[in-house]
Amino acid sequence: MAEKLRVGIVGASGWMAGALAAGAEYDDNGFNPDTKSGIKSSNSCVAALCDLKEDVLKQRKQDLCLDSAKLYTSYDEMLADKDIDAIIVAVPNNLHSLFAVKALEAGKHLFLEKPFATTVEDSKKLMAAAKKTDKTTKIDYILLHYDEQERLKHLIDEKAFGELASVHFTYRHPINVSESIDQIWKLKKDKSGGAIPMGICHALSCAVYQVDSDPVSVVCKSCPSKIRKFDYDTQQDILITFENGVVALVQGNIDFAEKYDARHTVIGTEGQFDYTPYNPLETRVMWSSKSKNRAYSADPVFANDHLDSGNVWKHKCTKTVKEFVSYALKGQQDPRLGLSSPTVRRIEAVIWAAEKSASNGSIPVDPSEFLN
Ligand SMILES: NC(=O)c1ccc[n+]([C@@H]2O[C@H](COP(=O)([O-])OP(=O)(O)OC[C@H]3O[C@@H](n4cnc5c(N)ncnc54)[C@H](O)[C@@H]3O)[C@@H](O)[C@H]2O)c1
Repeated sequence: MAEKLRVGIVGASGWMAGALAAGAEYDDNGFNPDTKSGIKSSNSCVAALCDLKEDVLKQRKQDLCLDSAKLYTSYDEMLADKDIDAIIVAVPNNLHSLFAVKALEAGKHLFLEKPFATTVEDSKKLMAAAKKTDKTTKIDYILLHYDEQERLKHLIDEKAFGELASVHFTYRHPINVSESIDQIWKLKKDKSGGAIPMGICHALSCAVYQVDSDPVSVVCKSCPSKIRKFDYDTQQDILITFENGVVALVQGNIDFAEKYDARHTVIGTEGQFDYTPYNPLETRVMWSSKSKNRAYSADPVFANDHLDSGNVWKHKCTKTVKEFVSYALKGQQDPRLGLSSPTVRRIEAVIWAAEKSASNGSIPVDPSEFLN
């Protein structure tokens, strides 16, 4: 392999792909789209872009100054290029599993935009391919890359809250389909996979990551959209019981919210943690801990970033892509978000159990049948 990881991006003219391309081509400070400037990464470069739309593809290459990027309108042709080491998949959701399996079969490292898949059959096919590969894989559950989630995990692992009892994670964020007429696929279940793959998976990823145990029961109630013309239910309220006894409530909708709402509560025998999204950063996180001798109060330095502003250029794309590049260059798996990691396998199991529960009158479902 070349000194730099040579990355090919499919879905390259899309809304998300610009920020991912900047993460692969530029250093830790990323690319400033306003001044069109940035320092090139010494570890990776965008070696190819692939999209159906040739004109927009050329524009993206020019806008981001991606000097070494070859342009493809056929994914299969890009995959056959021996000068590409890794693929970033950022196409509409229904193509994820197919494109991801092809990338692995072509011997490429794989960075997959969320969601993993849009049907349980596709999820199983991709999980089987992911287990067979020795290449680095990663799925972009981007909230886990925010310092606030990493710090919370550290406190839970240190038992700062004692034994965990229950957690509550929300994701409320309207999917803005008006940005581009092409984004209309987000309103269709057969293309998007539904509300959990579209966005509620972000809250789910946080809950599963923080609880860190196999799910044993899932109950889900879903409700139709009220504002936008989605052809599927946009609100999901999911109750998960884990093997370690912790109960998680994961709630979300992708139709309406005042603004982005990622509310987090963690309750343990010896402490509590609350992330309140609408407060200023200094009072956004409140927590208590008996072992740390801390009474319940605001922690002014805990949250140093707004979780997902709704603008992908302000997401942690640079951080997620760089972590992927670093593992791929070392020939290692991503322990947290590799495609066959415990967190990702558990998230997939909860998603398909929740789908089954919601479509059967909210009956409890044992997710072990989906825990590959
Ligand atoms: N992790 C996050 O926070 C986050 C945020 C936004 C979007 N996303 C994900 O990123 C992906 C892309 O979303 P988006 O908002 O950029 O969508 P988009 O519709 O703006 O872009 C999709 C792109 O894929 C291209 N495309 C479609 N079919 C193709 C094919 N067969 N071959 C090559 N290119 C093809 C389209 O032409 C388009 O340029 C989705 O999977 C979405 O879930 C993730």
